[in-house]
Order: sequence, then C-alpha cells, then structure tokens
Amino acid sequence: MVPGFRDEVGVAVDVMRGFALSMKKKEVKKNKPSLSEPARRSFLNKLLVGLGIIAILEFAGLVMAYLRPKKRQTTSGDIETIVVAGHVESFPVNSVTAFVRGKFYLCRMEDGGFLAVSRKCTHLGCTVPWVDKEKKFACPCHGSTFDITGEVISPPASRALDIYPLFIENQMVKVNTGKQIKRSGFRKDQAVYPKKA
Ligand code: FES
Repeated sequence: MVPGFRDEVGVAVDVMRGFALSMKKKEVKKNKPSLSEPARRSFLNKLLVGLGIIAILEFAGLVMAYLRPKKRQTTSGDIETIVVAGHVESFPVNSVTAFVRGKFYLCRMEDGGFLAVSRKCTHLGCTVPWVDKEKKFACPCHGSTFDITGEVISPPASRALDIYPLFIENQMVKVNTGKQIKRSGFRKDQAVYPKKA
C-alpha cells in the first residue's frame, strides 16, 4: 500500500473511531436515568405513605370518638329545670309539700325517703290535690286516689303518679323538673334517702 494513502486511511479510521466513541458516549448518557428521577420517586412514595398513615390515624380517631361513651354534663337547660326544695330536715316524715312552680309534690315517706311526685293525674291529667287529713291524693275529676308514694289506691287511674328525678346535695333536696318519669307502680328504689351524718 502507498505510504501516504495508508496514513490518510489511518487518520480516517481514527476520526471514525473517535466519532463512534463520542456517539456511544452520548447514547449512554442519553439512556442513563437522571439522578433526580429516583429521588423524586422516592419522595413521592414517602409522601404517599405519610398521607396514608395520616388518613388511617384520622379514621381511627373518628372511630374512637364515635365509640367513646359520652360524659353526661350538666347543661344550662338542666340548671333551669332544677328546683332546690330545701334542707332535708325541713321536711318531716309522712309529709307532703306542694311546689307549685315545679308542678310536683315533695313526699317524705314514713321511712325518711323522698319522692318528687307529679301533681298530674295519670287518668286524664287533672291536677290532683293532697288531702292531708286522709293522707292521700284525691283526684276531683273521676275520683282516683293515690297514696303518699303516688301508688293507685282506687281507679279509674291505672298507674301510679309520675315522678321527677330527685337528688340530695349537701343535705339539700333538689328536683329536676325537666324529666318526668312514668312508672306502673311504686318501688322502693325510686325513693332517695339522705345520707346519715
Ligand atoms: S283525671 Fe283523675 S281520675 Fe280522671
């Protein structure tokens, strides 16, 4: 081969090889994933996991709040309906005291227990007066009578007079007139007893 031609061919080969090499490098560089891509994916994955955990915690919190028994709190409505009747000692045993504002009678039984009895007859709703001489409630409308506990003595009323929740705080008798309790008859656990000093 002619020496000059050989050199020229060698140069051309070198140029071609250099070009191929640079193309290859470019191709490798092009196909190589950018460094920020995995980082971005990792960030998104962590973000999704974090959001998922927050959603689960919030859901669990809602379920717990729903299932948790609610504490009974005294509302302003309760305060308005509570009538302070007086000190336990101001009500002798076997006595009935009328509270016109609260529409109830405070009955203190023979054994010292208290009951707040509605003055409304359970037959047709007439107001029932206490007849102290006879120690009974006597309805003027159709003649029903009730004893000091509100239990029916004679019909047509078929069930005992309603009662109101009653409690004793610091020896003071208090009645919640906002809640009327219906009952078929008297039971001893309906009465409230003052604590012995
Ligand atoms: S309303 Fe009292 S007996 Fe009828």
